[in-house]
Amino acid sequence: MRILILGGTTEASALAARLAGKPDFSPLLSMAGRTSDPRPMPIPTRIGGFGGVAGLADFLRIERIEAVIDATHPFAAVMSRNAAEACAQAQVPLLALRRPAWVPQEGDRWIEVASMGEAVQALGEAPRRVFLTVGRLELAPFAAAPQHTYLVRTIEPIGDALPMPNVIAIRERAPFDEAAERALMERERIDMVVTKNSGGAATYPKIAAARSLGLPVVVVARPETPLGVEEVTSAEAALDWLERLHGRSP
Ligand SMILES: NC(=O)c1ccc[n+]([C@@H]2O[C@H](COP(=O)([O-])OP(=O)(O)OC[C@H]3O[C@@H](n4cnc5c(N)ncnc54)[C@H](OP(=O)(O)O)[C@@H]3O)[C@@H](O)[C@H]2O)c1
Repeated sequence: MRILILGGTTEASALAARLAGKPDFSPLLSMAGRTSDPRPMPIPTRIGGFGGVAGLADFLRIERIEAVIDATHPFAAVMSRNAAEACAQAQVPLLALRRPAWVPQEGDRWIEVASMGEAVQALGEAPRRVFLTVGRLELAPFAAAPQHTYLVRTIEPIGDALPMPNVIAIRERAPFDEAAERALMERERIDMVVTKNSGGAATYPKIAAARSLGLPVVVVARPETPLGVEEVTSAEAALDWLERLHGRSP
């Protein structure tokens, strides 16, 4: 069975690892190409966009894809929408593999907002030291609040994405560790954290560290997911779905 995995996440890599070497499946992992040095994968990989819905629908037909797993990041809303439309057009079964959102715990001081613009507003007027962990491509709105000092952590260099003097840029890739996160926030005298509600264990330590330090965290809610697409939250469940589908195919 020819499977296309839309990736760029830990969950996509976990599914790729489970499918590698299984004789019933011929998986292909697709990455957008945002990271210059992606981790090596145990299955064939392609990199780059498909060219919108039409491009993806053509790809599915030409490559004779029999199932698509949308294992993109919960904030990769365009790709998820395109996958739903292209799979409907090409009549290819689609499953979303999406990690559960984080939920606030006792002691958390969350300020939940609907967009990056609202996150900027939530920082307030007074100058603060802000730990910004929203990804390189989401930095621009924070230029509207230059009174704050930003500690920005990204995988790739931020270039001129936030061209202000009071920006401290660090480059690091998950998984992170709670004690190290707490030490970083203390050393940089952080008084507010901004994050997307990405979910998953790899970047959760910043939430736990902020809780233990009593810091407020501005949490940007997830975008809406396409209606009517079946969803699972683990690579194991996605594999079960594929095995059931394979069992039904002629
Ligand atoms: N957004 C985040 O916070 C975040 C965090 C961690 C990882 N990621 C990963 O980074 C990638 C890009 O995220 P994004 O938020 O920029 O996506 P997006 O806004 O939803 O997608 C923009 C365009 O990028 C291309 N694309 C996205 N994912 C792709 C994939 N897996 N394979 C091939 N093309 C892909 C598609 O181009 P075409 O229209 O040309 O097909 C899509 O229309 C995704 O793979 C995602 O899983 C995103």
